[in-house]
Amino acid sequence: MKTALVLNGPNLNLLGTREPAVYGSATLADVEQLCEKACAAHGLKLDFRQSNHEGELVDWIHEAGRLHAAGTLAGVIFNAGAYTHTSIALHDAIKGTGITLIELHISNVHAREAFRHHSYLSPAAKAVMCGFGVQGYPLAIAGLAAMAV
Ligand code: DQA
Repeated sequence: MKTALVLNGPNLNLLGTREPAVYGSATLADVEQLCEKACAAHGLKLDFRQSNHEGELVDWIHEAGRLHAAGTLAGVIFNAGAYTHTSIALHDAIKGTGITLIELHISNVHAREAFRHHSYLSPAAKAVMCGFGVQGYPLAIAGLAAMAV
């Protein structure tokens, strides 16, 4: 059984109380449950993580690269939060590993402030999804499963 690695970046631990008008009322634990269900439905094993630290996220992308090389990774779903708009290091990590990565945002970043319109991750991602709320996570897992066949 292959692994779907779901990575969440800074401030996503605050889901549920953080700007509910933008991000909704589901907590990160609720999102993990949605991902568990979706992975079970698609025959994938879930590895779900969150970090507020850019370097830790880089390390996890490298770890995903090793799983990819070993043939045990279906892919990565990555909500990098604000690092999306700032991090060349995360761009380079994704490029450097050759992993299949779906960039994900809960909100429609293109309908928000101009500083959210540019992503350093999109050019390195296989696919990008935004604006589906937390339901984007199970949708992205379904997409990963569909790409894997
Ligand atoms: C986000 C959008 C980002 O612009 C923001 O910095 C986040 C969350 C989203 O899921 O909509 O932290 O990635």
